[in-house]
Amino acid sequence: MESYSLLALTVALLGFLSPCLTRLTPRVSFLMGSPGRRLTHFRSHDVSNTTILLLSEDGDVLYVGARDAVLALDVGHKDAIRLRSKLDWSPSEKDLEQCSMKGKKMADCPNFIRVLQFLNNTHIYACGTFAFSPRCTYINSKTFTMSLKSDEGRGRCPYDPYQRNTAIIVDGELYTGTVADYRGNRPVISRHLSEGRRVDLKLDDTLGWLEDPTFISSSFIPNEEKIYFFFSEVGREYDFIDKFIVSRVSQICMSDVGGQRTLQRRWTTFAKAQLLCQADSELPYNVIQDIDILPPAEGAPADDTLFYGIFTSQWSVNSGRSAVCSFRLSDIKSVFSGNYKVLNRDTLQWSTRVQEKVANPGECGLHNASDNALRFVKENFLADHSVRPVGRSLTMVSAEHNYSHLTVQRVQAANNRDYTVLFLLTESGYLHKAVLLQSGAHIIEEVQVFEQLQPIRSLKLSIPKGVIYVGTSEGVVRVPTANCSFYWTCPQCVLARDPFCGWDPVSRSCVLVSNTQISLGQDIDRGNVEEACNSVLLTHRARFGPNKLPVASCPAGELVSVSLNEVVRLQCPAASQLSQQQWERPNSRLSPDLYLHLGDGSLSFVATPTTLGHYLCFSTENGYQQTMAIYHVKQKSSPKAQTPSTYTWPRIHPMPTTHSVARLRPGPGSGPGLHTSAGTWPKITETRQRETEPTLSSRDTRVTTRQVNRSFTLWTKESGQEEAEFHDRVPLLSARDPCYLKELVVVSVLLVLCLSLLITMLLYVIRQRCRSRTVPQAGTPTRDLDRRTPVEQEARRGNQFLSKHNGQAVHSGQASGLVCNRAPAGSNGHLPNTPI
Ligand SMILES: *[C@@H]1O[C@H](CO)[C@@H](O)[C@H](O)[C@H]1NC(C)=O
Ligand SMILES: *[C@@H]1O[C@H](CO)[C@@H](O)[C@H](O)[C@H]1NC(C)=O
Ligand SMILES: *[C@@H]1O[C@H](CO)[C@@H](O)[C@H](O)[C@H]1NC(C)=O
Ligand SMILES: *[C@@H]1O[C@H](CO)[C@@H](O)[C@H](O)[C@H]1NC(C)=O
Repeated sequence: MESYSLLALTVALLGFLSPCLTRLTPRVSFLMGSPGRRLTHFRSHDVSNTTILLLSEDGDVLYVGARDAVLALDVGHKDAIRLRSKLDWSPSEKDLEQCSMKGKKMADCPNFIRVLQFLNNTHIYACGTFAFSPRCTYINSKTFTMSLKSDEGRGRCPYDPYQRNTAIIVDGELYTGTVADYRGNRPVISRHLSEGRRVDLKLDDTLGWLEDPTFISSSFIPNEEKIYFFFSEVGREYDFIDKFIVSRVSQICMSDVGGQRTLQRRWTTFAKAQLLCQADSELPYNVIQDIDILPPAEGAPADDTLFYGIFTSQWSVNSGRSAVCSFRLSDIKSVFSGNYKVLNRDTLQWSTRVQEKVANPGECGLHNASDNALRFVKENFLADHSVRPVGRSLTMVSAEHNYSHLTVQRVQAANNRDYTVLFLLTESGYLHKAVLLQSGAHIIEEVQVFEQLQPIRSLKLSIPKGVIYVGTSEGVVRVPTANCSFYWTCPQCVLARDPFCGWDPVSRSCVLVSNTQISLGQDIDRGNVEEACNSVLLTHRARFGPNKLPVASCPAGELVSVSLNEVVRLQCPAASQLSQQQWERPNSRLSPDLYLHLGDGSLSFVATPTTLGHYLCFSTENGYQQTMAIYHVKQKSSPKAQTPSTYTWPRIHPMPTTHSVARLRPGPGSGPGLHTSAGTWPKITETRQRETEPTLSSRDTRVTTRQVNRSFTLWTKESGQEEAEFHDRVPLLSARDPCYLKELVVVSVLLVLCLSLLITMLLYVIRQRCRSRTVPQAGTPTRDLDRRTPVEQEARRGNQFLSKHNGQAVHSGQASGLVCNRAPAGSNGHLPNTPI
């Protein structure tokens, strides 16, 4: 009861604290068919439910368990996945008839392959549901033919294709976790294909070993000579809550041959323990969804083996969320070698043991033990302690993504340090690539891999080939683990914080770290562009010399011709989903009375003589600022409105770095303009008609064009000293703030701040309402407008621009990624000044 109230309290607390979870936004998003992340598909009209994957040792053949078929796919080619052979294996008409007579849906009666494992060098072992009457068969992997010998699949494969199971073959023996009956209520963990003195083993039929489990995965640990099973089940030890689900790890020893009298042909080494994915004083993420093993780093002890699992919660406060927890093998081992709870087999109640310890449950070699010891094992197989996650905390929590599958890889970065990269599949069909940092998880990218919701899918990582296979009902998709060439400037390459990718200053491209010997620009931990791209800058200076800087030749930006009183909308592409966009006008303030900052980063205003002129849009990410677009808004058919002689762009372009600091703080000037980018960069298909300013285009000659398939103008500039300080003071955008009880105070303060912000905004809206009545309807600005923008302030700003520019001009120009390109090919369609 005591623990019940504790749990209730935790529920309440978590419900209260949950809003302070920081968003985990993928930095870049690639939709299906995006050129930046080319996927290779295998689809065939006569093949479906391709959900079980098995990769050959050389990584050239992918065996796929499908509906009524096993496939061998040729995956050795870079550009395509080809069908090598297909083995049909379907139930007969009579089997199907019987299946539907038993009341099963016809769509569930085919043979869904659910076990696919290498048996030995020459054969693959496969099992399928076979019209709710599971069967297993031997497939010759060379000839890809089925042998005449087939086995009954009871206890090896589920009857129902929607029931999850797990299977692993070690030394020619099959270890499985599945339900062993038609109705799906006799779960069993068993061993099959044992020969000689070794007999097939299973769990004793008496109740209590397993409680309505959902099997997730199984792993062989060579050093231990043990198999671990991962599953969730009803936690009977918590009898105070109805159907409280717990996640479990269980173990069996491979040397087990069953007891001599007690536990004959039954496991004597079965033990289970709770896997607790829970941060201190928070509600646990209690339902395991998937788990993958990360072997220890080279030279590290086997005990450092880690298991990364995805967990969701059974409670609605946490619905839609998922957490990743990691568990260390040494922690699992010490829980299994500790104390055990006692099961009263009459009442099926668990209690803490008081009787004398007769045996060590979970110990290998118990098959030789006395009947007394084995009777003890029958009642003491649930470990007293739970396995806690590494660091006693969650590796990652996502409030908005429901993860279902994962695979994990250790990647050596350019600094020779190892980083853990997780590939996580969401319910909605995206593959997230996340790197685990001190400050939390950073999602490098998301790639859309399927469109329809899929009930059962799988992930298979091929580290040597650098690809991931996703098996779904729609087909098989191959995703390269990285595409470094997508990042076409050093800042982009560094900001990605992708351990696979680094900036090569020689070839001036973002390249795979594993392919390169030279030192690359990369900063996984901090994403500091300045430091990581410094070497690149030096190389660039050496090569081009300070005199040949393209600074003076940058174009004046895109010309936008408008009529007065027209509503103008200027687009600002986001550099990434983590960047924030800001607008600036040289020599002028963007008064919130005249300008509307829209959610997608664009700027909207009414064309009046005051609003004509130049506009710059910046994108700031992780303290690094780059110019994304420059516009020159000009009155239509009025050639003398603004001439290049009035504005000399090269003098204005090197923006003073202090602005990046000032702009990030919400103030009356930036007001509603400060927002998080909701726009998705790769999703944006920027199609704008551009005109060029003839007077300036001739200056364009010495410009290096490094724009690859990008449909917007990108200018980058090097950040100065101030930005470095800024970087130190402000936490990284992607950092995940931990959520602690003591942070309650912070939450309250934030609440107060929010309220005052709300009031301010209300006042602003009211003021806006009043003002809108005085907004000029004709093209001439009223005196009111002029008065609202104090002249002194303008003058001061102008001075700022000029003085800062003097100090920065040369510096900026040396930025390696400086791109002065303004008329991308194929622009058409929406005018930026389309009236809205
Ligand atoms: C990588 O990105 C580049 C640039 O967007 C693109 O051209 C290339 O096709 C991509 N490659 C893959 C394998 O996705
Ligand atoms: C098989 O695939 C179809 C879609 O192609 C899906 O609706 C069905 O649920 C899948 N069946 C199983 C058992 O996964
Ligand atoms: C592999 O297993 C199959 C089926 O039991 C058997 O026929 C075959 O001889 C085995 N091959 C080897 C190399 O042991
Ligand atoms: C224990 O069992 C093994 C077979 O697994 C046997 O070889 C061994 O002799 C037995 N040891 C004892 C002490 O009985």
